[in-house]
Order: sequence, then C-alpha cells, then structure tokens
Amino acid sequence: MAENPFRIHGLVTGEFFTDRVAELTRIRDALRRPASKLLVYGYRRMGKSSALALAVDQVNRQRGHAFVADLSTASTVADVSNRILQGAAAALGKRWKNVAADLAMRLQATVSLTADRATGLLLPTVSLQLRRADLEDQRATLGSVLDAVNDLARDRGVTIGLVLDEFQDIARFGGEDAEWHLRGVIQRHDYVSYVLAGSKPHLIRRMIEPGRAFYDMLDVLYFGPIEPAYFASWIEQRMRGAGVVSDGVGARIMDVAGPRTRDITQVARTCFDRASVTGKAEAHDADLAFADCVAERDDAFADFWQQLTPHQQNVLRALAVAGEGLTSAETTGRFGLASSSAVSQALAALVDAGRLVREERGARYEFDSPFLRGWVVSRALLDIGIALPVTYRAPTLPMPAAVPRLANGERTGERFAHTPDT
Ligand SMILES: Nc1ncnc2c1ncn2[C@@H]1O[C@H](COP(=O)(O)OP(=O)(O)OP(=O)(O)O)[C@@H](O)[C@H]1O
Ligand SMILES: [Mg+2]
Repeated sequence: MAENPFRIHGLVTGEFFTDRVAELTRIRDALRRPASKLLVYGYRRMGKSSALALAVDQVNRQRGHAFVADLSTASTVADVSNRILQGAAAALGKRWKNVAADLAMRLQATVSLTADRATGLLLPTVSLQLRRADLEDQRATLGSVLDAVNDLARDRGVTIGLVLDEFQDIARFGGEDAEWHLRGVIQRHDYVSYVLAGSKPHLIRRMIEPGRAFYDMLDVLYFGPIEPAYFASWIEQRMRGAGVVSDGVGARIMDVAGPRTRDITQVARTCFDRASVTGKAEAHDADLAFADCVAERDDAFADFWQQLTPHQQNVLRALAVAGEGLTSAETTGRFGLASSSAVSQALAALVDAGRLVREERGARYEFDSPFLRGWVVSRALLDIGIALPVTYRAPTLPMPAAVPRLANGERTGERFAHTPDT
C-alpha cells in the first residue's frame, strides 16, 4: 500500500509542505534585514511553526544566519534564556567554531555546556538556580543572552535572525514587566532581527494595543488559512500521486474540517487511509473521515466534558447548534442558559482554556477544534432531544471578506488574509 501522503505530526517539510509563498517571503525578508521586527500571529494549527522553520532553513541555505527558539514549553524566564542559547548554539554551531563557549563567555550568568546527543554539538544552559531566582534576575539574564547574540552578530559582521516561537507566554510567567523589558532589549539591537510568533490571538492583540509594550513596534503578518480552492486541489493531487483517484473530495474536506491547516490535513490523512482500500475517494468519504477523527478523540473529549459545569455544557450545546445569539430568549430557553453575564463568563473561561476562540471584533465565538464541535453535536445533543449529523455547522451571518484590522490600526496586507474565526 502506498505511504500516506499527508503528515500531521510535528513540522512538515519537503513534499508534505505546500503554499505559504507570501508568508515565507515576508518572514525571510524580516530575518535578513538588520534590526527588523516582525510579529507573526494566527490561530493554532495554522502551520506557523512549519513556515517559520522553513524560512529559517532557506535563510541559512542562502548564507544568512537565523535560528528558532521554541518557547512553547518554557515555564520560567530562565527557560526562555536556555531555549535561545540552545537554538543559537545548534544552528550557528554548524557554521562557526566554539559558538557555545563564545556565547557563554559573553554572559554575566553561570552557564554549563552539555553535549547534544543527536548532533554532538555543545549546548549552553544557564544555572538551574536561576529558575527560582527573582523575576528581575531572570529578566536580566534574558537581556544579557539576547545582548550576547547581538554582540556575536556584530563581531562576525552579520545579521542574525531570531524567531521566538510562542513568545506571548512570556507575560504569563514573567508578568507584563517582562514584555516591557523584552521591548527595551529588542529595541537596542542593530544586528539581530526579531520575528515574534504566537498562536494566541486574544493575548497577542492585547500586547500590541496602545499603552502596551509592543504597541507600534512590530510589523505584522497575520497567519491565516491556506486558500481553500488551492488546498483542495493540492490534497487531491497528493492522493492521486499515492494511487487514490478522487474528484470533489478535496472541496468536501475543506467544508467539514474548517480553516485550520492541521485539521484539514488530519481529515485528508484519515480519508486517504479509508480510500486506499478501494483506490477511490468520493466527497462522502470526507464526512466519514471527519466522523473517524471525532471518534478517535472520544475518550479525551468525554473527560473534558465531565470536567465542565452543567452550565458550561449547555453553553457549548447552544454554540454548536445556534452559533450566535446565545443570549436571545429563544436560545436561552431552548438550552437552559442562565443570565447573559453567566453566559459571558462561561464563554470567557472556555476561551482561556483554549477550547473556544473569539473573533477579533464582535461577539462571535467558535470552537477551537472542529472535532470537539463534532463531538458535542454527535454525542451531547441527544440529551436534549436534538439529532444532527456530526459534520453539522451552525449557520452564521456572512462575514465581510475584509482584511482584519489590528488593534494598532495597521493592515496585515496578506494575500489570503481571512477574518479570524470564519
Ligand atoms: N504548508 C503546509 N502544507 C501542508 N500541511 C501543513 C502546512 N503547514 C502546516 N501543515 C499541517 O499542519 C500541522 C501543524 O503545523 P505547525 O505545527 O507548523 O502549525 P502551528 O501553527 O505552529 O501549530 P501550533 O499552534 O500547534 O503551534 C502540520 O503537522 C501539518 O499536518
Ligand atoms: Mg507552532
């Protein structure tokens, strides 16, 4: 049997990666231009990290210097320092000798060097004590790490492009002061170009509002969906290349999976597995594949559901069926919702937990995962006597096809920029 032509784990490269031409160009340009500062933000699972990694790779192949620090697992500001040091040593260590020792020497902090098992390269780590030190000390070390990268670039006569992926969490463990501190450090660097990337739009939009640290400092790239018609035809082409003929399945996958790149790829992957038996995929197979994706997550979704309050459960039911107007008399009656402030509270808690997303302006909410929405529709509506197909999506008022406007009034200028949440 042919290998599945879709990958859903980790970053995708090579033939598994498609499109993003405009985004890659913007990111590469930012990484190469001295002292530039670019914010890349969009919803989860859009494919940001894959595009960032590819852009970095392309810059390095073209004799530039760039690296990624993945901050998604960091718990302290000290951890952020480590990720930056390790990213620098791993990427630049392939080109220059003694990068780790050089960086370590430039720092005010105690640094130990550990050999990376996979590559044998030495990776610097700041003292573990620092993780429990005052926030101020941790921030000072982060500042000196970034200064060291800037000095290294200056002394070598190059620009170093630095991607901080999932940077928005720095405020979670470092406080708003950490944002201001980071702004100050970034601003004084002429030899490092920064790409700040993140997948929590509701937090990031706040960080760039007037009065907040990153206001008016960053160019902005909104990382939206891949254009649906293009993605649909790419999916069918990949299937054909692996021996599955298909006509119309791509478009149907786009319909059922929603706008997030990974969700679409996930349904396509499952669809291919089903269809590879017969060598043929029809539009209806996309619906069956979507149902499989929901069923595979049954345990996790059921656990999540159990942890909700009854009112939160009702809010999710209402959202799945009605989509909007959750505070209308008809909807509150039908789903047993409490006061409109209680509904707002439940929605806010679910946004904070990452289960719902809220559109930029207006009050529309949407499930973060189409599979959770499908689970609520197919498993939790019968309790109140509603039967709908797993792929059901609430009708919504048509959204204006405008490029989203950001809090600081800047336009994203993206070719395929879509209004978030559609
Ligand atoms: N350009 C692309 N072409 C094809 N598939 C892609 C592309 N970008 C992303 N994907 C799919 O989406 C998945 C997630 O990609 P990635 O981790 O880059 O997204 P992300 O936006 O960084 O997600 P997260 O919010 O989890 O950090 C990939 O494993 C792949 O299945
Ligand atoms: Mg990512």
